[in-house]
Amino acid sequence: MSERQDEGLAPGEAREIGPSLREQLLADPTPPPAALLDESYEFLGDEDIPYTNYTSREYAAAEYDRMWSKVWQWACHVDHVPEAGDYYVYDIGDMSAIVVRTNDGEIKAYYNACMHRGTQLKPHDSCGWSKDFRCPFHGWTWSLEGQLVDLPQRWDFPHVTDESHRLPEMPVDVWGGFVFVNFDQDAGPLKDYLGVMPDHWADWDLEDRYIDTHVRKRLPCNWKAAAEAFLEAYHVRETHATGKLGDEVTTAYDVFEPNVSRFIHTTALNSPLLDPPRTEEQLLARMAQRRGTEPLELEEGMRARDVYAKYIQETMSEAYKQDFSHLSQAMTLDSIEYFLFPNAFFFPGLQLPMVYRFRPDPTTPDASYFDLLMMRPRIPGEESPDPPDVIELDVDDSYTVAEGLGGLGRVYDQDTANMAAQTRGFKASLKRGQTLGNYQEVRARHLQRRVSEYVSGKG
Ligand code: FES
Ligand SMILES: [Fe+2]
Repeated sequence: MSERQDEGLAPGEAREIGPSLREQLLADPTPPPAALLDESYEFLGDEDIPYTNYTSREYAAAEYDRMWSKVWQWACHVDHVPEAGDYYVYDIGDMSAIVVRTNDGEIKAYYNACMHRGTQLKPHDSCGWSKDFRCPFHGWTWSLEGQLVDLPQRWDFPHVTDESHRLPEMPVDVWGGFVFVNFDQDAGPLKDYLGVMPDHWADWDLEDRYIDTHVRKRLPCNWKAAAEAFLEAYHVRETHATGKLGDEVTTAYDVFEPNVSRFIHTTALNSPLLDPPRTEEQLLARMAQRRGTEPLELEEGMRARDVYAKYIQETMSEAYKQDFSHLSQAMTLDSIEYFLFPNAFFFPGLQLPMVYRFRPDPTTPDASYFDLLMMRPRIPGEESPDPPDVIELDVDDSYTVAEGLGGLGRVYDQDTANMAAQTRGFKASLKRGQTLGNYQEVRARHLQRRVSEYVSGKG
């Protein structure tokens, strides 16, 4: 089969041969949710992206000053702070927030610094329970509601009032069970920032999921390069299939301005590039083998995708004591990945229910931290299990030690293997920037463009 010829098309209009994602989703026996058919691609330009966006300390400093200090970012999950006094410290660069559940059940967030002489009230990256916030230096103490309730030897501070030295709150809100903070006192509402997310996710059950597995890995690359490794499926053939044809299933890319982008990558369908295509028996055998299950039987009149989706629905229905048979094949199987600028990914699918977050390493632009959460459906009528301990992985540790990731650990390892080499190449290259595909890599361009808008003061 020859490569498609694209003469006469404007930049960004060319597509892989074969059916479109829309055609494929509409061919499923259970219709997909309307949101998955919503298309939003626009050509965003084809200039190179400067490598200094990744490697420069000045650029990283500008990101802290002008971007991280102004964007909404998820700090923790509501299950991290279920009871009054539960708190969770979220750090980004030198900025630090304490998220807390107050006595009347509200969630608040405070800048993690004492109003006396600045000492952090709670340690870096900590969480736990506290009846109040007592500074370890001189013992000034605030209630969970931010009221100054104890000032030792107050006679020396006639210039301090309970009002002048309340703990300043920062904007905080909850979406889909995740607690978002914004370090900017003038931030607009989270709801506006989320753009299409609340609409698209209205019928999906993110708030009914709990964190089953939480891995945090140090990655040998800039936080944007790390995120970008998950923004396209163009690398699948080379990185995950060692260059062999066969896995180039249909993937659609969308950008929903200003802060959301998405890909949808189908599962258990043929690569349009395989000639001859795999038979339905072969496709089904591959799915079972990947999942490590017994071989599945192809049923009369059903495609491999339909049989496999039914199998996943039945397995999950049994495990999580609820009926998933109404879900479309796409919602059951496909890799549906929403990106929320600047650093969060949410997957609504049943089989691939991840949430990601990427954060820069404050000490170098060349490293970052990747939080990888595997979410599972809460059993109806039961409380969420407590969030699990974080499995901390260093640069050289394999994801395969984290049991909850199943076969995906190996795939994440393959992604990591590129990162250090790419970072070294940023510095070794004669060409000073990277060249992106107009369609398949548009989400990386969108991320870069949003960052540079903030860095240049136009965010
Ligand atoms: S610095 Fe916090 S009480 Fe003095
Ligand atoms: Fe990958």
